Amino acid sequence: MVTTSPTNGAGFDASVLAELREITTRYPQARSALLPMLHLVQSVEGRVTSRGIEACADILGISAAEVSGVATFYTMYKRRPVGEYHVGVCTNTLCAVMGGDEIFERLKDHLDVGNDETTDDGRITLEHLECNAACDYAPVMMVNWEFMDNQTPESATRLVDDLREGKEVRSTRGPRICTWREAERVLAGFPDDRADEGPAAGPASLLGLQIARENGWTAPRQRP
Ligand code: FES
Repeated sequence: MVTTSPTNGAGFDASVLAELREITTRYPQARSALLPMLHLVQSVEGRVTSRGIEACADILGISAAEVSGVATFYTMYKRRPVGEYHVGVCTNTLCAVMGGDEIFERLKDHLDVGNDETTDDGRITLEHLECNAACDYAPVMMVNWEFMDNQTPESATRLVDDLREGKEVRSTRGPRICTWREAERVLAGFPDDRADEGPAAGPASLLGLQIARENGWTAPRQRP
């Protein structure tokens, strides 16, 4: 049930409430919109706040506890303020052995923060990530969910220094790095103009396909 009570939103601007409601119209069942709605809350608040939870609950006609249950289950939803750039280092098995652990330790020392902590200037939040399904480019980092492939401790420290100095930084796959809040807005389903910057897949990901084509291999046909 979608409600439009004037008490909705616990103090959000009317434009934010309108966008939260707009998201619900994309789905046959309004409550399916909760995940992108929480991303929109993060784009406005810098994290999932209590008033964001209440606004989502009011609009969807569900309880704040149900919204909280979702917001605390998925690691992409943050209850503490995130810096301008969320820097993730994959420390899952392949990336770890290829140098991810070393990168993460180097960045912790360099930035003087621990896991899930933000630098004093509010620019960088550091977090170790699980597998990003980009193992063919290990060790992999992500900045605001854009890939930074084949990293080293040296390239990683250069990267965070450039971000802190306000230089333009691009993903190793092409797109410009935007702020975390801007990225959260995209995840809420309000695209920016960066989607076509860079290729859809790089050579390492396409190598298996190339080998199969060179050898004339095809996938087995499915039985009817
Ligand atoms: S283990 Fe790091 S991307 Fe898969």
